[in-house]
Amino acid sequence: MIVLGVGGGIAAYKAPALLRLLTEAGHEVRVVPTPAALNFVGAATFEALSGAPVVTGVFEGAARVDHVALAAAARAVVVAPATADLIARHTAGMADDLLTATLLATRAPVILAPAMHTAMLEHPATRANLAALRERGVTVLDSPAGRLAGADSGPGRMAEAAEIAAAVERALRPQDLVGLTVLVSAGGTREPLDPVRFLGNTSSGKQGVAIAAAAAARGATVTLVAANVQVPVPDAVRVVRVGTAVELRTALLEQADEADVIVMAAAVADFRPAASQPTKIKRDGQEALTLQLIANPDILAGLIARRRDGQVIVGFAAETGDAERSALAHAQTKARLKGADLTVANSVAGGAVFGEDSNDAVLLDRAGGIVRRVAGSKADVAEAVLDAALGI
Ligand code: CTP
Repeated sequence: MIVLGVGGGIAAYKAPALLRLLTEAGHEVRVVPTPAALNFVGAATFEALSGAPVVTGVFEGAARVDHVALAAAARAVVVAPATADLIARHTAGMADDLLTATLLATRAPVILAPAMHTAMLEHPATRANLAALRERGVTVLDSPAGRLAGADSGPGRMAEAAEIAAAVERALRPQDLVGLTVLVSAGGTREPLDPVRFLGNTSSGKQGVAIAAAAAARGATVTLVAANVQVPVPDAVRVVRVGTAVELRTALLEQADEADVIVMAAAVADFRPAASQPTKIKRDGQEALTLQLIANPDILAGLIARRRDGQVIVGFAAETGDAERSALAHAQTKARLKGADLTVANSVAGGAVFGEDSNDAVLLDRAGGIVRRVAGSKADVAEAVLDAALGI
């Protein structure tokens, strides 16, 4: 169960969106607004969306000793918005409503999403309070600049609901990859033909980003080398952006020595135009155009050739079946020939997998043997890939 505390600020109107995200992710949520929060959003909204009663004072549920029960049952307490007053009361250890009492009694991870006027955020009192809470292990999310209540704008907006939900997920995760460095490539390379055209592929980068996000959420230090990735990458992941296969290779080789795990999820163009034209290729009345392509380096093979002791390298195999052999059989051959410690085999017949939110993959060992099949969201596949790579 997660406790969602809601402070009495204008950003409270965004709390129902966060509640929705948390319940849709499968969490049971108990909403604990401060009495002031109910000036902005009614209890009925929270009750309808959470499916649970909403209580604000310590005396309403006195017989059940709500604050102690909630504090003990919570796996995480997230406060969104956390107002200056609420932050001050919690920093001082006050417990004058159910939310502050719960915050004081809980031993679960606490995440605060502060939201207030810039002047209040920058006041030395608020700054000192937030610093003290951070020191105590509370996760304090950034309050980005933007439009505030009234005509003003500046720092003090509440973090986006999706970002707060992601912070909750991180807080719930076992930190079993702390101390490990993970290097992930994602996306699809683009090989320029001329200043406006390229040879590319339809990889969205979602699976690689999901692996990077999962590794970071489990405490690893993560670098993502992103080739034309369009999807958002969590803040906890360091991103190096590249375009072509050669740039991808350079960026990966620079980081490879430090990595304990390398996941090569990018879809790399095997060939690039022999020459990229400096000006636009003209039609010039031609009915056909012949392009000469030259081979790109096999980046995965290069990484495997210089693999250091204890380093785990994960390759991908995007295959289509043909008349003679299935996609899986092709992937098993590739796993054996390439020598990655783990190969994530996908069947991409008919454009499946690329750009989708779900994946259906078979994990193969160095000999091409099946470790396990995993079907589900790209986030589920990411966890399975990390578990298998680390023998968890
Ligand atoms: N890969 C790579 N460098 C390349 C091509 C692919 O590092 N020039 C990596 C991919 O990131 C992936 C694995 O190799 O982890 C397999 O990619 P895939 O495209 O399935 O296979 P290829 O090795 O390119 O073989 P083919 O296209 O002939 O099936």
